[in-house]
Amino acid sequence: MSGKIEIRNLNKQFGEAIVLKDINIVMEAGKIYGLVGRNGCGKSLLMKHICGFVRPTSGEIAINGKVLKEGQDVPENVGLIIENPGFLPEYSGFRNLKMLGMINGKISDQKIRETIRLVGLDPFSKKRVGAYSLGMRQRLGIAQAIMEDPQILLLDEPMNGLDNEGVEEIRQLLLRLKEEGKLIIIASHTKEDIDLLCDVVYRMDKGKIVEMLE
Ligand SMILES: Nc1ncnc2c1ncn2[C@@H]1O[C@H](COP(=O)(O)OP(=O)(O)O)[C@@H](O)[C@H]1O
Ligand SMILES: [Mg+2]
Repeated sequence: MSGKIEIRNLNKQFGEAIVLKDINIVMEAGKIYGLVGRNGCGKSLLMKHICGFVRPTSGEIAINGKVLKEGQDVPENVGLIIENPGFLPEYSGFRNLKMLGMINGKISDQKIRETIRLVGLDPFSKKRVGAYSLGMRQRLGIAQAIMEDPQILLLDEPMNGLDNEGVEEIRQLLLRLKEEGKLIIIASHTKEDIDLLCDVVYRMDKGKIVEMLE
């Protein structure tokens, strides 16, 4: 089964402020979509709607044909990294992912270690996450997002804190996941970070999609 996201006439207001306006997007499996625009334009908020953390004021989102309902959990088959992923600083990377994996209870230690290796970290390192660099933490966040093999990946500013080499490694990883048929959405305030990677880029400004580049 492959991923699909349909966003229809989505609007979001906080009080008087209109923060997302008339968003209509259809996204399909096997592609990487970019959301770009300056800070505050609504990229993270749109991601939070797609994973059901935030409810729209009007309009709807369907994931694999199922409309998201109020009070629902993150839809199955969606993996995400939100801005500045939070981990428990006292524990190792493996232990952090293991605890998060136990929430769904269907991931093996071996799969966790494989995924940690895939993002360029040492799966047997005892180093506590509190001593990680920003880039290492970001890599661990990406590992968490992909370790349960979701069809849909929401990556909010995934290149944050990565050096050039790290950006290139994560690019290669995301291209492989796309080839496997995943639907990937990446938000970034720097278009250059994701330009090479994306099949379609939506440029946002003040809560609106103002341009679509293919
Ligand atoms: N919980 C909230 N309450 C009020 N305003 C919010 C909330 N979350 C986001 N916003 C506002 O929505 C706009 C879009 O924010 P955001 O999606 O975080 O921007 P981006 O990720 O593009 O930098 C901003 O003006 C922000 O202040
Ligand atoms: Mg953001």
